Amino acid sequence: MNLKKQLIASLSGLIFSAAVISSTLAAGVAEFNDKGELLLPKDYREWIMVGTQVTPNELNNGKAPFTEIRTVYIDPESYAHWKKTGEFRDGTVTVKELVSVGDRKGPGSGNGYFMGDYIGLEASVKDSQRFPNEPGNWAFYIFYVPGTPLVAAAKNLPTAECAACHKDNAQTDMVYTQFYPVLRAAKATGKSGVVVE
Ligand code: HEC
Repeated sequence: MNLKKQLIASLSGLIFSAAVISSTLAAGVAEFNDKGELLLPKDYREWIMVGTQVTPNELNNGKAPFTEIRTVYIDPESYAHWKKTGEFRDGTVTVKELVSVGDRKGPGSGNGYFMGDYIGLEASVKDSQRFPNEPGNWAFYIFYVPGTPLVAAAKNLPTAECAACHKDNAQTDMVYTQFYPVLRAAKATGKSGVVVE
């Protein structure tokens, strides 16, 4: 074998093993332990923030069904895919942070609902290989509720507890895009942010 042929042979071997390795890895940024639990995505505050909802207790007879303020993030690679295609790719991870209402009087900005303390952390992962039987291939997780410590890994919650409401009410592939202006604006446009024509 001459040098050129040898080089081509070893290169194609490399490409083949890279393909094998990548096909055995889970899609996207989600990491799981050997019990199949999702590891807490540590850097989610560096992801794309897509929207915030407020359902204060005082508008809900003292106890809103959902924690008062909630902010949702999506991992950057899945956001890029959404921006290009308008779809949630295999491997998409979303994280929802739950925050209480703190102050109700602003420093000159008006009365309202200002963020208090972090009191919850939830996530969802779409993965057709890992969750072939879940609706939309989405799995749902809770990492933190008030009164218990934040956990480093969380197990997939029953479909009836989480997925059912998302399936019935969320606008796009079980994700509440109707409440996420960042995702609505970017959907399949290839563009982010406020576009000045
Ligand atoms: C009664 C309906 C309902 C149930 C049950 C529900 N959710 Fe949601 N979920 C919502 C709504 C509405 C939003 C939009 C953001 C908001 O208002 O908090 C949302 C948003 C989310 C998001 C952000 C991404 C997305 O899909 O829009 C995550 C993550 C999430 N929920 C996790 C969970 C988990 C974990 C459970 C089960 C413990 C759960 N949800 C149960 C209604 C529900």
